[in-house]
Amino acid sequence: MAKKQKRPVKFDFKPFSEQQRRLIHWWRPVVRYSSNDIVIADGAIRSGKTIAMIIGFLTWSQEMFSGQSFILAGKTMGALKKNVVRPMLQMLEAWGWPYTYIRSGTDARIEIGSNVYYLYGANTEASQDALQGLTAAGAYADEAALFPQNFIDQMIGRCSVTGAKVWMNCNPDSPHNYIHEEFLVPEKAKKKKVYHLHFTMDDNLTLSPKVKEKYRRMWAVGSVFYKRFILGLWVAADGLIYQQFADNVKDYLVTSSWLLECDERKQLKNEIMYAVIGVDFGGTKSAHSFTLTGFTKGYKQVVVLDEWYCKKRINPAQLQEAFIDFVKRAKAKYRVLEAFCDSAEQTLISGLEMACMQAHVGIDIRNAIKGPINDRIAFYNSLIAQHRWKIMKHCKHTIEAFEQAVYDDKKKNQDVRLDDGLMNVDSLDSCEYSTESIQNDILYIAA
Ligand SMILES: Nc1ncnc2c1ncn2[C@@H]1O[C@H](COP(=O)(O)OP(=O)(O)OP(=O)(O)O)[C@@H](O)[C@H]1O
Ligand SMILES: [Mg+2]
Repeated sequence: MAKKQKRPVKFDFKPFSEQQRRLIHWWRPVVRYSSNDIVIADGAIRSGKTIAMIIGFLTWSQEMFSGQSFILAGKTMGALKKNVVRPMLQMLEAWGWPYTYIRSGTDARIEIGSNVYYLYGANTEASQDALQGLTAAGAYADEAALFPQNFIDQMIGRCSVTGAKVWMNCNPDSPHNYIHEEFLVPEKAKKKKVYHLHFTMDDNLTLSPKVKEKYRRMWAVGSVFYKRFILGLWVAADGLIYQQFADNVKDYLVTSSWLLECDERKQLKNEIMYAVIGVDFGGTKSAHSFTLTGFTKGYKQVVVLDEWYCKKRINPAQLQEAFIDFVKRAKAKYRVLEAFCDSAEQTLISGLEMACMQAHVGIDIRNAIKGPINDRIAFYNSLIAQHRWKIMKHCKHTIEAFEQAVYDDKKKNQDVRLDDGLMNVDSLDSCEYSTESIQNDILYIAA
């Protein structure tokens, strides 16, 4: 028998700001902006864009259409379910609107009244293929600046029913991002009938001054991240990627005595609860790199504890030997259960796995997630701004790699990290692989 689905709790509606109300009601025929075809809500993190857009989209689609199909898209299917579907179902519960949620399979969807809302993750080929057959009366794109361009084009192309509207929200990115260049630059916005609503954290009345302050402290004032995520501006990134670190390297370096520091109650302040290994494999021009990153209680501090770096050409047996040494050294001091490895090299990964088994070294070897580099860059910049990142002094390659990393000035305004064979991006990669699986928990839960 199918497991009974647990009903979501009812959404706890709080008063809406004026900007949120604009986003909820702009489509109503009496409103002068309703002649637009597209609405884009951009701006600061946590500014109430998603919530208001869900309400607007639901009421618009239900009041204006019946028997139609709609697109609900997120950066990934997981992100869509967490950020959009979850609050949406909670709202439906609160309003008492009956619905059916088919959560899995190729046509995951929500049926409300006679309308059907199909769910898509913009990052997968399968989603893009699935979109192709659809005729829709509207689309909702959450975090649209992170979608591939062809998904956005497809999505808009599918909205061919008379009166169809496209709803998109996002945090700003580079001014050369497709969303900015194609929909927000004034002449394009006019031509494509885009209604643009800019949000700041003050447009979310549920945030207390203290919480807003906490979010502001997540980024260094003046940094590209502060400008984008707090001020909500479309600005380019250039120069040093980890500017604040490069300017104050010493503030972030520690030795093992730091791990033994006690508070006034004689409790260890910076005890490492567990540690994770990141592995980047070298090629003809790049180096092999291992990073061991440790986490203190509640993810308060993230600490690069050890590294291994080898630019020489070595054979797989030598690589395995180095890895086993590294894991043994790490396990002698810390609780280490996982290693995330560059997934492009499956043969090397199985080699490490075999070697560890033979040597009786217990470690779970997994594929690195290899998500967007810019998410990883934003993550480390936030930790640096919050002084929650440390590096052991002896990890010279990691220190140098973070100090010198720059954006590629040949790819201006595209936020591309320079990887010219001379820069050490290998230490950055292995470092990032070691934290990527828990990046969001570290930032948002512990912040
Ligand atoms: N009127 C409201 N009633 C209840 N909760 C609200 C309201 N407005 C905003 N919130 C809450 O504020 C938080 C942030 O809102 P939301 O997720 O819409 O912001 P966002 O601008 O989409 O943020 P991000 O850019 O980080 O995705 C959420 O937890 C949301 O539930
Ligand atoms: Mg959002």
